[in-house]
This record gives sequence, C-alpha cells and structure tokens, in this order.
Amino acid sequence: MSFLAQRLSRIKPSPTIAVTQKARELKAAGRDVIGLGAGEPDFDTPENIADAAIRAIRGGDTRYTNVDGTPALKQAICAKFKRENGLEYRPEQVTVGTGGKQVLYNALMATLNPGDEVIIPAPYWVSYPDMVELAEGTPVIVPCPEARNFKLQPADLEKAITPKTKWVILNSPSNPTGAAYSRAEMKAITDVLVRHPHVWVMTDDMYEHLVYDGFEFVTPAQVEPSLYERTLTVNGVSKAYAMTGWRIGYAAGPVALIKAMGVIQSQSTSNPSSVSQAAAVEALNGPQDFIPARAESFRQRRDLVVSMLNQAKGITCHRPEGAFYVYPSCAGTIGKATKSGRRIETDNDFVEALLEEEGVAVVQGTAFGLAPFFRISYATSTEELEEACHRIQRFCASLRD
Ligand SMILES: Cc1ncc(COP(=O)(O)O)c(C=O)c1O
Repeated sequence: MSFLAQRLSRIKPSPTIAVTQKARELKAAGRDVIGLGAGEPDFDTPENIADAAIRAIRGGDTRYTNVDGTPALKQAICAKFKRENGLEYRPEQVTVGTGGKQVLYNALMATLNPGDEVIIPAPYWVSYPDMVELAEGTPVIVPCPEARNFKLQPADLEKAITPKTKWVILNSPSNPTGAAYSRAEMKAITDVLVRHPHVWVMTDDMYEHLVYDGFEFVTPAQVEPSLYERTLTVNGVSKAYAMTGWRIGYAAGPVALIKAMGVIQSQSTSNPSSVSQAAAVEALNGPQDFIPARAESFRQRRDLVVSMLNQAKGITCHRPEGAFYVYPSCAGTIGKATKSGRRIETDNDFVEALLEEEGVAVVQGTAFGLAPFFRISYATSTEELEEACHRIQRFCASLRD
C-alpha cells in the first residue's frame, strides 16, 4: 500500500512474536499446543521486587521521571556494573530505556548514517538486522557455523571489517543458540577490535546470569579495558529477574553516546515507567540469591532437552553454555515427507509441519540467519518439555523418504 512508508518494506514483523501469537491462537481455538517459541522465563518476578513496585505506586512514584532513568536506578546500575563486571561507570554514562530492545534501537538510531555497516554474527537475535535497517545502516552478516559452536571467529571478524564498519554487535550468551564466549574466546575477538579503532562494540549482555556448569561470564570492556571508550554495554532486568513485562533495559558507555541516545528517547517515548524503574532498583540492589537457583533449574532443563533431541531421528543438538535456548539442526529431516504427505524442504517447512501435526511451536532457524535449524526456548516446565520432546521424536520417527 503506497500510504505506508518505504522504510517498512525493509523490515518484517518479529518472527518469534509471530510464532508465539500463532501458538496462542491455536490454543484458544482448543488445540493442544506446547509453545516453545517465547523468549521469557516461566518464573514469576520475585516478591520483593513486586512489593517495591506496589510501594512506588502507593507512594506516588507515578509521574514522569528523568527521560533516561531515575538517579536511584542509575546508581543501582553503576553498582551492578562494578560488583558483577568490574566496570566503573558514573551515572551520566548510564541510560535506561523501555527494555533492552529500546536501548539498542536508540543506540543505532543515534549513530548510524546511511551506508554505515554493522557487523552481526549469525545466528543473531532477530531484531538486530531490522533495527539496523530502520536506522538506515547496512547489516553485515557473518555466518558462525555449528562446527564453530556458533561463535564468531576472529579471522571472520577481521575479514568483515571495512572502513564503513561502525559497530559490531556481540551477544553472549546468545539468543538463539545459547553460545557464550569464554574469556579466551572473547579476548581473541577484542584483540581484532583493538587493531581497528574506528569500530565500536555493542555488547548485548541480556543473558549474563544464565550460564551453566561454572561457566564464567565476561563482557568485552572487562576483558579488554582499552575498548572501554568505544563500547556500549547493554543489559536489562527482563531475563535475570523474570521481568519481561516490566520493560526495563539499560546501557553504559561514553557520555556523548549516552546523551545522544537520550535525545532519541526524549522525542519518542520519554522515560520508561516510573513504577518499573522503582522495581528495577530493588531487583539490582536486593537479594540476588534466587538467580543461581533459577539458573540451576534452567541447566537441568537444558540437559533434558539436549539429550531428548539428540534421540530424535534426523536431529542433532549442540549443548550450549547459557541462555535458555537450544538451536538444533534439522538437516537430517530435509527431503523427507510427513505422514500426511507434506514434504520438508526447509526449516520453515519443518517448523510448520511440527506445529500442524504435533502441536509443538518452535521458531525456524531461517529467522535467525542460519538454516536448517530451529530454536527451542526451554524456559517452560519440565513436564511440558518432556512432552514436547516426545512429540518431536514421534514426528521425526514418522518421516518417510
Ligand atoms: C538477545 C536479546 N537482546 C535483547 C532482548 C530485549 O529484551 P528486553 O527488551 O525485554 O530488555 C532480548 C529479548 O528477547 C534478547 O533475547
């Protein structure tokens, strides 16, 4: 329709939200559907955090705040970076937005000129390329194959850098693969970046607390302090504190960048919810001991899902270090037909047939830039995961040449 802006033709609606919606619709229509598409913890927000929000409402904390975050929340964020990442930031180096998603978007909108390149390792979080396109930049996708554990290789990064490169986006642990960079792996990446002073680092640390088997989380500015002046460290409360609906994300970086991001936010949404900010202060300053307990529960689910998927015919599933996703390959099912006669040529076909025939909703790897794979979010109950994996096994066993 010509009434709509041309920029809309460059992007598509989030495929993960689309799958979640489709699963919800099928469920509402009475179908027995297990949704493994959504990227959010199934835990509730801890009570002390919810109580802080209620106190904020009752106490009249219900007005506009500073556009890019209250002083109390910025203080709590500075303390978090020091405590958990050994990074020193002052409040004026911190910005708070309506979710990490808005913070990333602000950063791209505030920095990209037409033709500026942004390096995005694939598989990637679905929003990175589209956000870059909306900001009129050019996404430069670097494939990170399963044989490399879905991790960016220093030599591939080096090759992708051009004089037009403005940012590289890093996301460890990763959505959709769960892959996380060890200190040595991260150092190998930052060593490349040290040699290219015009490239800035946008690190999306959203899944920082969800790492397993004693894995040590690291972030680029911590591993290579000389990158501090050109790194935007992005994080949020959604995943670690089970606060996806509260919509609070934040970032820290050089003051000029942080100010520019605030300008974008001031002319679009203004401050994130005052009540949610009060809750986020409690999340960051309050007890943290439930986090490892929840992470342990995620680890058990990861192990269950990886083991059951590897028993499905035609599926191979790599065991990732973190987040709550696995990214199995369905290469062994390509070219086969389902019992109702549908032919599986792509991961899209696989995912559609699985939903139609067994009522399991997962997301096709094509959406994340590396096929033929699919993403499973295991942030759901063990019973549902077991049932879903049984159905996947049954579905795969039923495929014929
Ligand atoms: C990698 C990654 N970054 C950022 C976000 C955004 O999270 P939020 O906007 O809820 O803070 C998500 C959410 O799914 C994500 O998976």
